[in-house]
Amino acid sequence: MTRPAVLVIGPYPPGDIELLEASYQVRRLWEADDKTSFLREHGSTIRAIATRGDLGVSGELIAALPRLEMIGIYGVGVDGVDLAACRARSVKVSNTPDVLTGDVADLALALMLAFARDIAKGDRYVRDGTWGDKGNMPLSTRLYGKRAGIVGLGRIGKAVAKRAAAFDMPISYFGRSAQPDQPYTYVKSLTDLAARTDYLIATLAGGAGTAKLISADVLKALGPKGVFINVARGSVVDEAALLEALERKAIAGAALDVFLNEPKINPRFIALDNVVLIPHVGSATRETRAAMGQLMRDNIAAHFAGKPLLTPVT
Ligand code: 8YV
Repeated sequence: MTRPAVLVIGPYPPGDIELLEASYQVRRLWEADDKTSFLREHGSTIRAIATRGDLGVSGELIAALPRLEMIGIYGVGVDGVDLAACRARSVKVSNTPDVLTGDVADLALALMLAFARDIAKGDRYVRDGTWGDKGNMPLSTRLYGKRAGIVGLGRIGKAVAKRAAAFDMPISYFGRSAQPDQPYTYVKSLTDLAARTDYLIATLAGGAGTAKLISADVLKALGPKGVFINVARGSVVDEAALLEALERKAIAGAALDVFLNEPKINPRFIALDNVVLIPHVGSATRETRAAMGQLMRDNIAAHFAGKPLLTPVT
């Protein structure tokens, strides 16, 4: 029996592609010099797509694949996939929730600690060999006991809250509705949450519904002692307002794993000394990426076996 043709949008860590190639005819879109010609040649055979949370799948690409049945996302974020186009074509979609929750939450705390205790500055301070000349590094600031404000108390938000509680941080949250089963304080206004927060942590889903939710007004409410942490998507914050607030010191700073236009982020971030910047690595551990790859492949295999998806989005 002919192995199903699967279009892979972008590269995965070593080993993942080979595991896909063991079961499917893999077509590597990112390696095509002329993607239009590539899709003209292979598009009519493609039955499934394997993509990533940061890459998504456009409606245009879906329209170019008349036999498309299913999209497997290596990641939890579905904001990059045109779900309306999928629903219109009855294309099934899966993602990889839960297996990455702990890593992303760990990274949120790592960003908070890195900012509070000037970890990156301290590393440079030792490495540049001037410690003896300059004496002790300037004092940093305490994290434990500071107030955490979580924007989006979903799987990742709850895992961040659990970790922040271990740092004796009073925890409040904003979301579409209160979650009375959670032992944290619900604040129904995001601006009010920011005003009563030291670390405002974005863990909400990306997409049109949350675009620029963290606005200039929210950042103003966070204030000159407040710090913005983003492990969600660059789209959830008004990035122009964030840069302005950082440059004017209207907020103390930010620690960011995600940005608009990754990897070509706004160069104004690079010029700032009140930010910690890392390259969208929330789920990027060997253990978690292996689990994400396995879950994505399990979803694709379930589809072709005529079974329900393990972690369906649509
Ligand atoms: C992706 C992410 O998995 O889960 C998501 O949606 O943003 C990431 O963890 C990553 O971009 C895959 O390369």
